[in-house]
Amino acid sequence: MSVAQIQPQVTITTVSPTTMSTPAAPAAPFYDKGLANTVAADTQMSFIDGGKGVLEYVGIDIDTLARNSTYEETVYLLWNRKLPTKAELDALKSALQAEYEIPDAIYDMIKSFPKDAVPMHALRTLVSALALHDKDAESSETNPAGIERAKRQSLRLVAKTPTLIANFDRHRSGKAFVRPDKSMDIATNFLWMLNGEKPTDAMAKGLDICLILHADHGLNASTFAARVTIATLSDMYSAMTTAVGTLKGPLHGGANEEVMIMLDEIGSIEKVDDYVKGKLERKELIMGFGHRVYKAYDPRATYLKTFAKQIATDTGNLRLFEMSQRIEGIVLAAKADKGIFPNVDFYSATTYHCLGIKTDLFTCMFALSRMSGWCGHCIEQLMDNRLIRPQAKYNGPHAATYAPMAQR
Ligand code: CMC
Repeated sequence: MSVAQIQPQVTITTVSPTTMSTPAAPAAPFYDKGLANTVAADTQMSFIDGGKGVLEYVGIDIDTLARNSTYEETVYLLWNRKLPTKAELDALKSALQAEYEIPDAIYDMIKSFPKDAVPMHALRTLVSALALHDKDAESSETNPAGIERAKRQSLRLVAKTPTLIANFDRHRSGKAFVRPDKSMDIATNFLWMLNGEKPTDAMAKGLDICLILHADHGLNASTFAARVTIATLSDMYSAMTTAVGTLKGPLHGGANEEVMIMLDEIGSIEKVDDYVKGKLERKELIMGFGHRVYKAYDPRATYLKTFAKQIATDTGNLRLFEMSQRIEGIVLAAKADKGIFPNVDFYSATTYHCLGIKTDLFTCMFALSRMSGWCGHCIEQLMDNRLIRPQAKYNGPHAATYAPMAQR
């Protein structure tokens, strides 16, 4: 895979061997802070046109998938680059269900966690610990057997992550563990384990849609981190641990929690204007707005906005939706000309809240879904691997003196 310098979303200028000074000379490195103008991987999973606000998975518009698909079907699509037949989908669902359960030793490990542990710390640790109980968790190889092993590890990771999150939450709430129910789909089973009761169809559907919308998103920071790890031929558990840690940051997956904290802080619609305008005047970030790639409305936010309104109405939380809408109006008036629009995290905060999910679990929910995208990208990386190793621009001194300790 070539690393190419691009004009964002417009043209890709690859370095032609004929333009190089010597045939073997590498392209001259250029400094691209934040890698915003660097293409560092091939993918056939998701396509983003940030200028037009388009997101497709394997060519299918995200809105169409949110309206018609299921999370399991989306996982199949991302991993196989085609929609499944009924038999293929049933086979994937059964394979996932067979892997929902986690080892007893992992339940014991959860019991040992402090009840005030940050959920993403708990998740990162548990994803890593799963490798200790998987005899098939060796390092990756790029041959067909190695790719198959990576796929088996992926299946386990996607299937077990909901069990880890829900049962960590039960532990910290002083509740008994709820074992996964292998007759349920991923969204229903997660809410069942989290709450100890079967969710309504509407709640399960709501979560399923959120999982579809968050499943993949090009070479975002956590996906890039996962690909860097797997490109060293490490194992999938290591790559997913890297990805969970990267997603945790407030500039990435952590923003949805920050949005809910902001809504709680504001408290009422009357206080929105002062709060938001004050933040903008102080040049502070409004969480849930802006995106490295989208300079138009994030298409995931378009769908979630409609959905959040519905679920907020159904669950008696319309106040939250109205506050969000007002925040959006003020931010757009001030920042739309700079390409700052709501991103996926803005309305997913209201949606998760209405689904009864605690604020500090929101980023774990993002991880639960994105696990499928991370795994798919790692498999793509293994299928056409090259170590990912950019360069740093050294700004320090040269030929410096090594002073003995006594002289410093
Ligand atoms: N609120 C107010 N101003 C903003 C915001 C915001 N949320 N985001 C960007 N800006 C301003 C920024 O201050 C800068 O202004 P100026 O040109 O005057 O310095 C301009 O817009 C360009 O921003 P940038 O920092 O160059 O954009 P970036 O591509 O480096 O950062 C971002 C993208 C997502 C990190 C940033 O927009 C941000 O911090 N947003 C808030 C956090 C957030 O919601 N993150 C979730 C992203 S979506 C989920 C995901 O894919 O991870």
